[in-house]
This record gives sequence, structure tokens and C-alpha cells, in this order.
Amino acid sequence: MKSYQIVLLKGDGIGPEIVTQAVKVLDRAAGRFGFTVSYDEALLGGCAIDAAGVPLPPETIEKCKAADSTLLGAVGGPKWDTVPGNLRPEAGLLGIRGALGLFANLRPARIFEQLREASPLKAEIIGDDLDIMVVRELTGGIYFGERGRRTVNGFEAAYDTEMYSVPEIERIARVAFRMAQKRGGRLCSVDKANVLESSRLWRATVERIGKEEYPDIELSNLYVDNCAMQLVRNPKQFDVIVTSNIFGDILSDEASMISGSIGMLASASLSEGKSGLYEPIHGSAPDIAGTGKANPLATILSAAMMLRYSLDEPQAAQAIEDAVSEVLKTARTPDIYTEGMRQVTCEEMGDLVCGLL
Ligand code: IPM
Ligand code: MG
Repeated sequence: MKSYQIVLLKGDGIGPEIVTQAVKVLDRAAGRFGFTVSYDEALLGGCAIDAAGVPLPPETIEKCKAADSTLLGAVGGPKWDTVPGNLRPEAGLLGIRGALGLFANLRPARIFEQLREASPLKAEIIGDDLDIMVVRELTGGIYFGERGRRTVNGFEAAYDTEMYSVPEIERIARVAFRMAQKRGGRLCSVDKANVLESSRLWRATVERIGKEEYPDIELSNLYVDNCAMQLVRNPKQFDVIVTSNIFGDILSDEASMISGSIGMLASASLSEGKSGLYEPIHGSAPDIAGTGKANPLATILSAAMMLRYSLDEPQAAQAIEDAVSEVLKTARTPDIYTEGMRQVTCEEMGDLVCGLL
């Protein structure tokens, strides 16, 4: 029997409770599809700061490198808002992405048929269906560039640096082109090439890769400000979007809101290798931690993405996605509650998904 070893980074806030539900679902899927999963836990974020004094202990990196894949809950919370920047929970998240070489972040934003009314956009703008894949570069650009403080004209000043090399752009472009090949065949590269030199290199490189290697894909370019506007004006025009770390951070939040389902959206962060890190795109919601109100479905769907992209268990992935789709017909956590449905807790939602598997 195939056996997979997974590291769990439960993290902070609602992290532990949503990961617990995803593990339950993974185990259930394993039983049904004939594989086993073993788990090891490691610390990341605020919980790591409390236990080890740093947001990313070296042991966490070692464990993740040795595992078949990693499932992350969420990190951060007001408790750690006052610690120095390089010791914040978020620094742990950036650190693990860097340490594992997770340069490609896949953030699907799709509307679940049962949650259509939850989108803040008018029905005619959404149309029949909305399914956008944001491919965000995750280990370069301004989030990883040189930063610091200095004195300018006698005043304190701070700077961060946006820089991309050709190989960095090429590899994320290839991930995005291949994604477009598996989907609708359209890729939109987003930059600020009218202002930024790094964006001019980005655009020229993506265009060259498109011409040389993916002539079958319809490539377009948009400036990031225009893209932000187009996402709410006419989101249906998008299939795959590829963009830099900071633009992808911002646009993927926007795209997820359009779907009206931030508690429902999963993400995958991939390296050249297979293992990857999977996490819901929502945050740690410290205000509802421990109340049973958290929605575990994004984490459960992240586990499904893991089965598909890292573990070669596409049937199990599909079964989980189908079960989530089914459960939405009758049961809802408070964040997606609508009248006539049964309101359930985080744990009950996990049980219901298991029951449908
Ligand atoms: C995300 C988050 C992180 C990021 C933060 C918490 C560092 O916003 O995953 O999008 O900016 O990458
Ligand atoms: Mg973000």
C-alpha cells in the first residue's frame, strides 16, 4: 500500500482546528482509496515564537524537506503584532517559502455554484461561471529584496527593493503557461511596465517564453492597476493570471473576494520538486479561534490539492472536492450561512465531508 508522510504546520488562531478537520478528511480518503498517511507536526509562526523564540525553527525546515508534502493552517495574530519585523509570524511564512524554494503559488478563485449569491458582484457580471487561476511568483521580488533604513536629508527613511532575474521570471512563466495549457489556453501577464524597470524585464521575458515555447497559448499583458479594475469590471475575461510576488498578493485577495468565498479557497505553493506546501488563502482569524465558527473547507480543499499535485492521488482529490460541493447544498459554517441551511460548527463540517466520502 502506498504511504505518504505529511508535515502539519497548524500555526495560530483557527489554524489547529481547521487542520484537524482536514486530517480527518485525508484519513477518510486514504481508507477509501487505498493509501495511508502519517503525520508529523512542526512549528511555524506565532506558536513557534512562543515555543522556540523564532517564527521558523530550523527543525521545521528539516522536517518539511524530508516529507512528501506539507499542510499549513494559518499564522499570525495580534499577540505578535509588536515583535520586530524579522521575528513576526509572517517572516516565518516567507522564510519557509524561501527555504523550500516554493516559487510558484497557485491561487484558484472560483465560484461555488451553491455560493453564487455570496459574490459581491452582480449576477450578470459573474455570468454562468467564474474560474480564475492566479499564479503568483512567491520567492522573489520586493518581499525578498534588500531592505533597510537610512538617513536621507537628515530624516529617517526606509527602502525595499523589487528585483527579478531572467531565470526567476522564466520559471514562473513556464508554470503559468503549462497551467493555461491545462485550462482555457489563455494567459494574462500582469506588471507595471509603464513605470518599473523590473516589470519591463518581466514582460519581455514572459513574451519571449510564450513565443518560443508556448505558441499555442493566447498571451496578453495588463498593467496591475488596470487588472485590478478589470477583475471587478469583467472577471470572465481571465483564465490564468501570472504576476510578481507583491502584485499577486494583492490581486489574489481581490480575486478571492469576487468569488465571495474566501473561507473556501485553497492554494498550492510549489517548487521544482514535487512536495509543495498547501494552505487555505484566508488568515488565522484569531477573533473566532476556539469558538467552532471557523470554516474548515478551504483547508480540506487544500488537502485535496495536495493529493492532486504532490501525491498522485487525483481520484481521492476529486472525491473530496465532490464531497465539499455536495455538503454545501445543506450545511454551512457561519461565514457562508444562508437561510434554510443547517448551520454547523467547524468539527461538524469536517464530519459531514467525511460522511460523504
Ligand atoms: C499571503 C499573505 C502573506 C503574503 C503574508 C502573511 C506574509 O498575505 O499568503 O498572501 O503576503 O504572502
Ligand atoms: Mg496575501
